[in-house]
Amino acid sequence: MSQGNVICMNGTMVPEAEAKIHVLSPAAKYGATVFEGICAYWTKDRRQMNIFCLPEHLRRLQDSVRILRIDCKMSNEKLTEAVVNTIAANGYKKDVHIRLSIWVAGSGPMESTGPTEWMCYVAERPDRPFENRGKNAVISSWRRIDDTSMPPRIKTAANYNNGRLAQIQAKLDGYDEALLLGPDGKVTEGTGACFFMVRNGRVVTPSITSGILESVTRASVIELARDAGFMVEERSIDRTEIYTAEEAFLCGSAYEVMPIVSVDRSPVGTGKIGPKTRTIWESYSAAVRGAIESRRGWLTPVEGVKALAAE
Ligand SMILES: Cc1ncc(COP(=O)(O)O)c(C=O)c1O
Repeated sequence: MSQGNVICMNGTMVPEAEAKIHVLSPAAKYGATVFEGICAYWTKDRRQMNIFCLPEHLRRLQDSVRILRIDCKMSNEKLTEAVVNTIAANGYKKDVHIRLSIWVAGSGPMESTGPTEWMCYVAERPDRPFENRGKNAVISSWRRIDDTSMPPRIKTAANYNNGRLAQIQAKLDGYDEALLLGPDGKVTEGTGACFFMVRNGRVVTPSITSGILESVTRASVIELARDAGFMVEERSIDRTEIYTAEEAFLCGSAYEVMPIVSVDRSPVGTGKIGPKTRTIWESYSAAVRGAIESRRGWLTPVEGVKALAAE
């Protein structure tokens, strides 16, 4: 199979240039679209492509559809088939990033809940050696959206203007990443990843009611950290706790495990990648490639291609 970007648009494989949406759709006008960013890993020795935590991503996508009141009744079976077939149709034998989106189509008003369309897109993901991943972060002056205005727990494109502003500001100011405080001044998350720190030997992360995305990677990192024998606390975090933390990192499907070596120009711990962060990364990278027997259930293998009926 040849490589190339073939997009699955409403059940039909089309070349990228032909995958279009209506400029007057509520998706384009108001950001009425929900999505997932999912990773699939190619394991060379077994010549096997595995999707990481696909059911968990689909569960969150269905939550996003429900919360944003989008009239989409696609089943998880159908979505799974679309993801598997799009990976197979593009023929990648490399690690890939998958984007699965559902949106309000047509040209209706702001409160439209349908008609809906969907697409699945797959692209090669760059390999970033862990040793080069240490990032300098800043506490953003932008506050994180909260559940009383925009629901941070789900993935809707409109939410991302919040992170976009923070990330633009961080980059302009010479940092790599922004961390956002919530309206209560407590630490929430990064612009595209969840936050963890190690303080007094414990691995600490804000709870899922702290104005964060209900991250799939966060949930697996918590389990892997516990497997490694670390104490994990899900609780609110004060800004100044980060200045006295031993280690800090971000995690997410795209970020995987991304060490933070300084915050506000103050080194985190030694200012180098910490040992617990490294252990968690090693377990994570082993789990996504099927090297941890007890965690193989997190993987969905990409095998044969089935005919895709249009929805
Ligand atoms: C704001 C935000 N937080 C956290 C995450 C991590 O979520 P996940 O682990 O499900 O990819 C993401 C991922 O895109 C994100 O955009």
